[in-house]
Amino acid sequence: MIRMRRLRANSSIRSLVRETVVTKDDLVYPVFIKEGINIKEPVGSMPGIYQYSPDRFEEELERIISAGIKAVLVFGIPVHKDELGSEAYNDNGAAQNVIRTIKQKAPDIVAIADVCLCEYTSHGHCGIVCGNEILNDETLEPLAKMSVSLAKAGADIIAPSDMMDGRVGYIRNALDANGFKNTIIMAYSAKFASAYYAPFRDAAESAPSFGDRKTYQMDPANGREAVRECENDIAEGADIIMVKPALAYLDVIKDVSYTARCPIAAYNVSGEYAMVKAAAINGWIDEKKAVMENMTAIKRAGAKIIITYHALDIARWLKEF
Ligand code: PBG
Ligand code: ZN
Repeated sequence: MIRMRRLRANSSIRSLVRETVVTKDDLVYPVFIKEGINIKEPVGSMPGIYQYSPDRFEEELERIISAGIKAVLVFGIPVHKDELGSEAYNDNGAAQNVIRTIKQKAPDIVAIADVCLCEYTSHGHCGIVCGNEILNDETLEPLAKMSVSLAKAGADIIAPSDMMDGRVGYIRNALDANGFKNTIIMAYSAKFASAYYAPFRDAAESAPSFGDRKTYQMDPANGREAVRECENDIAEGADIIMVKPALAYLDVIKDVSYTARCPIAAYNVSGEYAMVKAAAINGWIDEKKAVMENMTAIKRAGAKIIITYHALDIARWLKEF
């Protein structure tokens, strides 16, 4: 008889044949940095996650370092928003300041800078708006200026999350022209217009004031188009591509992994985090087991890099094993 259970007989055999193992090296921890002083504000829809002002972020940086997490994704939240999102490329902005601090205090931490205008525009859209339209080409220059400003602050990786066409190539050229030819681009390539972003928009104060993001983010129904988005970004010079969200799009991660030959990242987004947390707080699931199962699924699907709000918890659990 073919006995599949032979290889499940005990924990040593099981770990010998285990195909997928998640480690701390795979994880990126997103952080929300709000302009101001002495801010540590809990995000209501994301238990355990806070907005920090640059001065207070140093406590969080200590926690990140002692947990052994090696990469952070920085989102900045400005006090002043305008139509054009001009604070995005203020060299003294909250994100720029925190990136400088990270690279001074912990140069080995990989500082990833999210690049998008939605936290900086008064209308909350990811690009320049004219009437009800989100303009594509007019958005490229502010994104490039933001990228250069963040690279100047010390960002190791620039991560454009806006979904404008042609932005990866445009940003690559701007980085190269300004002396940042070694700065990595991790493109949010297959980013879907998802309901799972809702808690993030509380955290980043970036909800659109009218309409939705469906003219620039992808239709959740389209898998083949996601592969094309990834191919385009690779052709434009992306070093790393990303699928977002992760858990509802594991098939997309898998499809992309068959063709792409660069590292693949997946973003385990705010709504996915909030669902697990809510169930765990109610005692309906075992948080540690559910989170590790989700992480394993994302890696098994083909992502090497996992961006997750669970990162600090996971690092702690991995120490316990
Ligand atoms: C927008 C952006 C979003 C997220 C990161 N950057 C989504 C959006 O508002 O459309 C979502 C991240 C998350 O949900 O955790 N540039
Ligand atoms: Zn945006």
